[in-house]
Amino acid sequence: MVSPVKKDSILVVDDAPDTLELLQRNLESRGYQVLTAPHVMEAIEILKTTAIDLVVTDLKMPGASGMDLIRHVRENFRDIEVMMITGYPTIETAVKAVKFGAEEYLSKPFTDTELFSAVEKVFEKVHGRRMTRPAWHRSQTSPYGLIGESEAMQNVFSAIAKAASTSATTLITGESGTGKELVARAIHYNSPRNSAPFVPVNCGAIPGELLESELFGHIKGAFTGATETRAGFFQTADGGTIFLDEISETSLSMQVKLLRVLQDKEVYMVGSTRPRKVDIRILASTNKDLVHLVKKGLFREDLFFRLNVITIEIPPLRERGKDIFLLTQYFATQFAEELGKPKLRFSENALSVLKNYHWPGNVRELENVVQRLVVMTEGDLIEVPDLPSLMRFSALQKTGLHRTLAEVEAEYIRNVLASVEGNKTRAAEILGIDRKTLREKLNKKLKVTPS
Ligand SMILES: Nc1ncnc2c1ncn2[C@@H]1O[C@H](COP(=O)(O)OP(=O)(O)OP(=O)(O)O)[C@@H](O)[C@H]1O
Ligand SMILES: [Mg+2]
Repeated sequence: MVSPVKKDSILVVDDAPDTLELLQRNLESRGYQVLTAPHVMEAIEILKTTAIDLVVTDLKMPGASGMDLIRHVRENFRDIEVMMITGYPTIETAVKAVKFGAEEYLSKPFTDTELFSAVEKVFEKVHGRRMTRPAWHRSQTSPYGLIGESEAMQNVFSAIAKAASTSATTLITGESGTGKELVARAIHYNSPRNSAPFVPVNCGAIPGELLESELFGHIKGAFTGATETRAGFFQTADGGTIFLDEISETSLSMQVKLLRVLQDKEVYMVGSTRPRKVDIRILASTNKDLVHLVKKGLFREDLFFRLNVITIEIPPLRERGKDIFLLTQYFATQFAEELGKPKLRFSENALSVLKNYHWPGNVRELENVVQRLVVMTEGDLIEVPDLPSLMRFSALQKTGLHRTLAEVEAEYIRNVLASVEGNKTRAAEILGIDRKTLREKLNKKLKVTPS
């Protein structure tokens, strides 16, 4: 008996009814299952309820654009591919589309053959990947694209769900690299505003004197060089969400202006005395202790209270227990796939170093470490000496004065061995003992596992 083959499903999004119909007819004739949506909002609704393999979207549409849809898909569905169609081909749009995660790019007008070959190319990749992708990859990916099963992260997930169901201003706190931006995006894309833009603004990266006009826009002639009226991020994000990243980096005078937006829901463009209404949800993030900054007079207390309607505290990676392993597996699979290399395995000892390391750069640091390992490692087994030396040392350092001399000695020997990549002759030299003594220490009471 032949088992039924699941048809690949395609969602076509275009505001022109003729194009929609044509694409649907053509693609169905090739055996694909085709759904259509006349705008991004409807496409997002369909994606919520229907399993789609490929989204084919027009770029320019009234309301949210194809680019917004690509972003939505990339952030919420790891297994859906996107193909962009546009009548206005420019290098910039092509580059941007691909950067946001479009797999293919097709410019109008195109022939049927061009369409089919582009679609087939995408599906070849999809099928190739399905063959190699382990089952856990799908099952353990949370709906927010955030990996984590620890209790600490479960709390974050329920906080995201709560924040997404309201429009309340939300403050996201956490050390550097803990996933603050991912959480902000998860809130927006799961909120009723998800078909309007999500606009992240890195307040720390924009010079103070520029920030105001970047945020609120300016009118022509407002300052030297303001040759035309330009909208700011608040206008761009109208109807959607603005994410004020590193909010602690704003000046006190900027804070007064932000407070006014929060209170009155209106902005003044630089050079204008006329307020303009905006419908914006504000998310803010910081890796600093705002309460402390308030006490020191560096952050306005009134703004702090306004921002802090809902607070989501993201735990540091070192407090997430076995999530460290899940994330390691996840990144190892991802980078191996990307680079076409074998999936890495980790020895028990290597895993224990990862677990005990204090991860000051959190998930971003782990991501970078795993990426480097995938690139640099010849074989597929990672052992302690393969790990960055900084990590091996600090992971093995226990603080406190509760250890026996034997434990301290064992740890020191382990560190020295790790620093010379397991070379016992070199280790013995550094320790000022002969190889035989070292071997004895390794063999019996110290239980030092050479790496
Ligand atoms: N739980 C998670 N699952 C998968 N990837 C994650 C998770 N948390 C963070 N990441 C990844 O780690 C990196 C850092 O995340 P993000 O930029 O959101 O952190 P951040 O807190 O905003 O950092 P910073 O304080 O440096 O701005 C990103 O590449 C993100 O995709
Ligand atoms: Mg960030």
